[in-house]
Amino acid sequence: MRTFLLIYTFSLFGILFSIQNKSIEQSIEDGYMIYDDFCIQCHGPNGIGFIKTIPPLANSDFLLNINKSISIIKYGAKGPIIVNGKEYEGNSMISQGLDSEEISDVLNYIKNNWGNSNEIQITAEDVNNIINPI
Ligand code: HEC
Repeated sequence: MRTFLLIYTFSLFGILFSIQNKSIEQSIEDGYMIYDDFCIQCHGPNGIGFIKTIPPLANSDFLLNINKSISIIKYGAKGPIIVNGKEYEGNSMISQGLDSEEISDVLNYIKNNWGNSNEIQITAEDVNNIINPI
């Protein structure tokens, strides 16, 4: 019984430890699944978006602002938005109801794809720290 408890406790710590230290590779992989489920229908498989109505995520200068990027996925946005010098309006970005970890994963995916690159891993804690819509 004691051995069992010891093994149990160690594996529990192991699981907690691995959750807190999710690698960037794992986060990007999980983010791809989320993108495929929640974002692809609007932003497209290559993050190109749609002329005049849906801004691109590929090479997006908006994504350089981490706080705003977190906020728009967390809270959504409507109204005109300027991405790469072009104005997009007439459509809303609806909050997809993702939790903080899912938001950090999907951001790590889009920020390391299609011409975007970001060395700093975004964590669930970064997402928790953003409390205002853009
Ligand atoms: C229903 C269509 C729709 C869905 C689904 C959607 N978006 Fe958007 N997204 C938009 C629109 C429209 C805008 C521009 C909002 C505005 O005009 O204020 C936008 C803006 C953005 C922006 C900021 C501008 C840019 O291009 O860099 C990011 C980042 C973004 N979306 C990420 C996501 C992610 C990640 C998901 C999935 C979790 C997602 N979107 C799902 C329509 C959508």
